[in-house]
Amino acid sequence: MSVLRCDQLTIDRDGCPLLQGLSLSLGSGEILHLLGANGCGKSTLLQALAGLHSPAAGQILFAGAPLARREPQLLARQRLLLPQRQQIPFELEVADYLTIGWQACGFDGERWLDAPQFAACCRALDIDWLLGREIHHLSGGEWQRVRLAATLTLAERSLNPESLLLLLDEPFTALDLRHKSDLLAAICRLAAQGLAFVIVHHEPALAFAHAGRVALLGEGQLLACAPPADALTPPLLARALGVAAQVARVEGDDVLITDIERKPRRL
Ligand SMILES: Nc1ncnc2c1ncn2[C@@H]1O[C@H](COP(=O)(O)OP(=O)(O)OP(=O)(O)O)[C@@H](O)[C@H]1O
Ligand SMILES: [Mg+2]
Repeated sequence: MSVLRCDQLTIDRDGCPLLQGLSLSLGSGEILHLLGANGCGKSTLLQALAGLHSPAAGQILFAGAPLARREPQLLARQRLLLPQRQQIPFELEVADYLTIGWQACGFDGERWLDAPQFAACCRALDIDWLLGREIHHLSGGEWQRVRLAATLTLAERSLNPESLLLLLDEPFTALDLRHKSDLLAAICRLAAQGLAFVIVHHEPALAFAHAGRVALLGEGQLLACAPPADALTPPLLARALGVAAQVARVEGDDVLITDIERKPRRL
C-alpha cells in the first residue's frame, strides 16, 4: 500500500491554479526529492500533502484513506512537517521549544528529553550542546538543526510508532557541508526504518546523488517523477530551472554538474 497517493490534483492560490493534473504515489521507505523554481508551488504542494491546504480538485490518499478526513492529532503524529520558515514570537530555551512541539502531538515531551533516541538525534545533528540556549540567540544553521531535531525525533518509530511520512521544506537551508552530510545520513537511517520522505530543495546535484526519485515541478505541472537520471535530464532541467547541465564521471560515479558550478555567467 502507498503511504501517499495523489490523483489528478489541482492546487490553487487565491483562486488561480498553481499546479494542475498532478498525480504521484510514494511507498514506505521511499525518498522523493521535490525540485522546481522559486514560486512554482513546492511549499504549497507540501502544505497540501500535509493536509494544511485543500486541493481545488483531485484526491490525496494517506495510508489508504482520504487525507482530509483524518483526525488532526493522529495526522500530527503520522505525518511530520518541517515548514520552510518558522518564527517564534516569544523567548524560549531550545529544550522548551522541543518539548512544547512534542506535547502538541500528544507525547510526554519532558520524558522524551531523557530518551536515548533523542540523545542519538542530538548527536547526529550536533545540537546536544544547544539545549539550554535561547532560540533567538542561535545562528541560522543552529536554529535549522534544532527545528530538524524536533521533527526527526518525532519520526523515530520507537518513540512514535504511528509515524509514516516526513515532509521537509528546504531542510538543507543554512547548513554547512558537514551538517548537510549529517542530515543526509539521518534521513537514510529513518528511511531504512520505513519512513517515507518528500524533501523540497534547490540542489539538482544533491538530488541526483541522493534521491530515490525526483519530482520536478514547472509550467504549472509535474514535469517528471522518476529516478534521478530520468528526471534530471538536461532538457527537463532547462525547462524547470532554466539551467544547462551535464553528467560527468568522477571516480566511477555519475555526478550532475550545472553551469553554475562551472563558470561565471556574462551579463
Ligand atoms: N498564502 C498565500 N497567499 C497567496 N499567494 C501565496 C501564498 N503563499 C504562496 N503564494 C504564492 O503562490 C506561489 C507559490 O508559492 P510557494 O511558496 O508554494 O512557492 P515555492 O515553489 O515553495 O517557492 P520557493 O522556492 O521560493 O520557496 C507564489 O507565487 C507565491 O507568491
Ligand atoms: Mg517554498
